[in-house]
Amino acid sequence: MFETIKEQPADKILMLMQSFREDPRDNKIDLGVGVYKDATGNTPIMRAIKSAEQQLWQAEQTKAYTGLAGDPGFSDAMIALVLGDTVPRENVAAAATPGGTGAVRQAFDMARMANPNVRVFVSDPTWPNHLSILKFLGIETVMYRYFDSETGGVNFDGMMADLAQAGKGDIVLLHGCCHNPTGANLNVTQWQAVIDLLLDTGATPMVDIAYQGFGDGLEDDAQGVRRVAAQVPECLIAASCSKNFGIYRERTGLLMAVAQDAGAKKLNQGTLAYLNRQNFSFPPDHGARLVTMVLTDDALRADWQAELEEMRTGMLALREQLAGELQRLSGSDRFGFLAQHRGMFSRLGASPEQVEKLRADSGVYMVGDSRMNIAGLNAQSVPLLAQAIIKAGI
Ligand code: LMR
Repeated sequence: MFETIKEQPADKILMLMQSFREDPRDNKIDLGVGVYKDATGNTPIMRAIKSAEQQLWQAEQTKAYTGLAGDPGFSDAMIALVLGDTVPRENVAAAATPGGTGAVRQAFDMARMANPNVRVFVSDPTWPNHLSILKFLGIETVMYRYFDSETGGVNFDGMMADLAQAGKGDIVLLHGCCHNPTGANLNVTQWQAVIDLLLDTGATPMVDIAYQGFGDGLEDDAQGVRRVAAQVPECLIAASCSKNFGIYRERTGLLMAVAQDAGAKKLNQGTLAYLNRQNFSFPPDHGARLVTMVLTDDALRADWQAELEEMRTGMLALREQLAGELQRLSGSDRFGFLAQHRGMFSRLGASPEQVEKLRADSGVYMVGDSRMNIAGLNAQSVPLLAQAIIKAGI
């Protein structure tokens, strides 16, 4: 019977990972999948996570199931990290999920349970897997203008005009920080304007925050999502721990549903637990436990924050170095946006043919839409990339 299933398109980001591995060239540069790498190209286990893991190995007494929504301590710690004290805890329902992707998937499921005809408004462009999951679920997707390829910034007027079309019963998906794939983000004034618009139209925001701490810092990166949660009547938030705790393969995420009062929260909490049960039963616990330990232990937390800050400032330095090199080689400021962007990614603004040329001629791997993972660079490879970009005629 399975022969009736059509072959599915391979995920472009994951396909790129494979092609990079198979490329025998020594000087190849991997700017593909969104995984942090240090200057030696290694994705380290963060110091605090390693310590927590050692402690956990000693102290853990059982591997019996946690609750359907995961360990409540994990929810508490993550809600505090993402939302600070902007929303009363008793208004926030939360469930641990397998990674941020799991939270995104459950959020879409929940939206569809609430409104079978829900439309989800997504930025143009957005993380390709948002689109893929929405398509899989048969949910109507509406793109709103977001990236201005002329300036490398946000087309805010276009975004506002398109979001005005979303109404009650629709979801507006926003990237909390470090927009994937463009690197172009809203400022606080723009966040507020979007929130005012959402309040006018009655559309429900969903914030995907997968890179908190990679942009302007842990607190600054949460400004947008905190404003949203504090002001709108209800919202969904999908948070990932993969990147900022470096625990990609542990699959650790949290879906939050923020409501006006404890009664609505109780209903949402039941829905989140139900969705977990239908999709995979209990969420993975190991990564969540490590995150909880790190966030609730002063010494571990301080060490984690220090290391995260080193990663963030390292990526910023690489951005500035690359923008500088490109300015020197091109004799123009047209790549200045690379230093303005925040997070792991920047969209270079190259055509698919130029991206292919970069790969074929210079061994530079970036996603076909010219998304670059800045963490894939180091001080030595930045000049090589800059030369390759100029050579490819970008
Ligand atoms: C990315 O965008 O590269 C990451 O979020 C990894 C993934 O799963 O696509």
